[in-house]
Amino acid sequence: MAIQQFLDQLQQLTESATAAFQQAGSLDDLEATRIDFLGSKQGQLKSLQKQMGSVDREDKPAAGKQFNATKQAVEAALEEAQQRLSGNSQERSADPSFDATLPGSPLVVGHLHPLTQTIEELKDIMGRLGFSVADGPEIEDAWHNFEALNIPAAHPARDPLDNFYLATSQKSQPADAPLLLRSQTSTVQIRVMESTPPPIRIISLGRVYRPDTADATHYPMFHQMEGLLIDEKVTMADLKSVLRLFATSYLGEEVHIRFRPSFFPFTEPSVEVDFHWNDQWIEFGGAGMVDPNVLTSVGYDPEVVSGFAFGLGVERLCMRRHGVMDIREFYKNDVRFLHQF
Ligand code: FA5
Repeated sequence: MAIQQFLDQLQQLTESATAAFQQAGSLDDLEATRIDFLGSKQGQLKSLQKQMGSVDREDKPAAGKQFNATKQAVEAALEEAQQRLSGNSQERSADPSFDATLPGSPLVVGHLHPLTQTIEELKDIMGRLGFSVADGPEIEDAWHNFEALNIPAAHPARDPLDNFYLATSQKSQPADAPLLLRSQTSTVQIRVMESTPPPIRIISLGRVYRPDTADATHYPMFHQMEGLLIDEKVTMADLKSVLRLFATSYLGEEVHIRFRPSFFPFTEPSVEVDFHWNDQWIEFGGAGMVDPNVLTSVGYDPEVVSGFAFGLGVERLCMRRHGVMDIREFYKNDVRFLHQF
């Protein structure tokens, strides 16, 4: 192809593209025009580029130079039209009431749920006391949820009405080894002791499930923080010191807590731990010295090691800290409530 013919075609394309971009009346129009001229497969510019191959060899540098200039001109016309149609045109910036230097409207960003914030803070406090974090599954077998915790088959705590047994487990599991949603994080004590020799100093935070009727202090799904410390010569005094230190770190020096004698099959002796709030005592956890039967069931020697364990209700701690009067607030997902944290 003669060079002049090629240059003429480039000139024509510049003119028609510039006019088409100027006439585009909407962003849809503009996109169609862009594809027509600058489309990477069948755009007019692309087909001219292909024709450049037939220009005489000695004219190729001049043809290439002019092709690039054309491309730049067409792209500039596109950009100008984009600015005009997106309302960012010179006209608009000439408007004296428009100040491009003002900050934009702030984006509304979310934040962590108050219970997630609480969990992070509890990990932080216990981390400073030397406890590391362990995890365990929410779907458990009867061994970890009951048996190894000294809760035998006939124990009333295993009643189907007190637990969420999984219907599917009956197909894949023998009837005497059902799966269930864990009813306490104490299951993680067993899993950690089964896989780790003493000494142990862990916490585990997560969801637990019980068919409790929801009221101001109960919910059928809630969170617990389990703690386990196993070593030589661990005593009840260590347990009380750790829980007292934890409670004052999270709830403040002025909090009053008390230990009440209680019973758990997997600790001996056992206590419930309460804090004082609005003229009454509210239970926030259970605790005790790990029962020798439990130590034996995971292969430890109760003559050599001893330890303590505790399980605290995360929701109740968070409620006390922030003055939340009803646990159900955490699960309504009402942003007016959640925004306050
Ligand atoms: C237990 O779950 C024991 N596993 C605790 C434990 C661990 C004892 C290690 C000894 C050694 P309990 O059922 O009391 O204990 O529950 C512990 C805490 O969970 C309660 O004090 C309370 O704060 C919280 N909790 C219990 N049920 C609910 C519920 N339905 N809704 C909200 N929080 C609850």
